[in-house]
Amino acid sequence: MFHPLRVSEVERLTDDSVAVTFEVPPELTGDFRHTPGQHLALRRVIGGEEIRRTYSICTPAAGGEGSAAPVLRVGIRLVDGGAFSTWALKELAVGELVEVMPPMGRFRLVPRPGHFAAVVGGSGITPVLSMIATLLAREQEARFCLVRSDRTVASTMFLDEVADLKDRYPDRFHLVTALSREEQSAGLPSGRLDRERLTALLPALLPVPEVAGWFLCGPLGLVSATEQALRGLGVDRSRIHQEIFHVDDGSAPAPAPPSAPDRAVLTATLHGRSGQWAVQERESLLETVLRSRADAPYACKGGVCGTCRAFLVSGEVRMDRNFALEPEETEAGYVLACQSHPMTPEVELDFDR
Ligand code: FES
Repeated sequence: MFHPLRVSEVERLTDDSVAVTFEVPPELTGDFRHTPGQHLALRRVIGGEEIRRTYSICTPAAGGEGSAAPVLRVGIRLVDGGAFSTWALKELAVGELVEVMPPMGRFRLVPRPGHFAAVVGGSGITPVLSMIATLLAREQEARFCLVRSDRTVASTMFLDEVADLKDRYPDRFHLVTALSREEQSAGLPSGRLDRERLTALLPALLPVPEVAGWFLCGPLGLVSATEQALRGLGVDRSRIHQEIFHVDDGSAPAPAPPSAPDRAVLTATLHGRSGQWAVQERESLLETVLRSRADAPYACKGGVCGTCRAFLVSGEVRMDRNFALEPEETEAGYVLACQSHPMTPEVELDFDR
């Protein structure tokens, strides 16, 4: 459910990115507590069209019950032709109202002792910044190694915040920077981080088998290359967590396979109310629900954010793509409604589970 929140600060980070802080009224403080790594879905009518986007929270999570209210801030980078990010960079001002959904997402790090690591590219630093700051403040026995990849120093988001963490935790925070388009005096030689480079680099930086959790965030190419490198180094899939930003590979959804039923009926439960609808040709199950229920949850419609996650109660579906659910979630029966198409004449989804 969206809540209108007032913008209390807009801070320019780089030429093409801003950090936007929201004021959370006291009665919503509990709803807006986040676990480091989570994101917010934002909604706004721009040019007469409703636009939704998800952006990761960059600020540390609050402590336990009764602790001070956390600051709710997201990082937004301009995407070419992106309606929301263009509006956020050019027009969004302090005092404006934006509709915001409470934090969600399963790309998260619940603080605990241990050695953790992240490989991030560009704005992928945003959720990881919250993870590092929260973890190192709360767990004296935790360490973090961050490998970040950016084009140039000038285009690097949260440069000062990461430098502050380095100063505050010199022994427990290890920072390695790779710039793809600029040489630097310290850090890695310039160039892209590909699978081969990462396979050589990561074991030289830290004891790979001892890392309790790997957090990969950024463009699809970097995240896939790192995952392949880690799998090649023997890291178990369950220790690798990924979040992809802005996937637009231009690929059209796959046509329905011959085994797909000609007609299908969807039953869905949402906010305690159930309904039944015929699924129209080629539409996703999310679109089927949205035709009658405007409160169906979604943000990206691209298989990336996980906002449309639903439990498959009965029947079978196929998903066009899935960059949001972890393997344990799909194995447990969860699907992305925005990517799902029926493979049986009857399908039942539960959005409330
Ligand atoms: S709406 Fe984002 S994954 Fe479905």
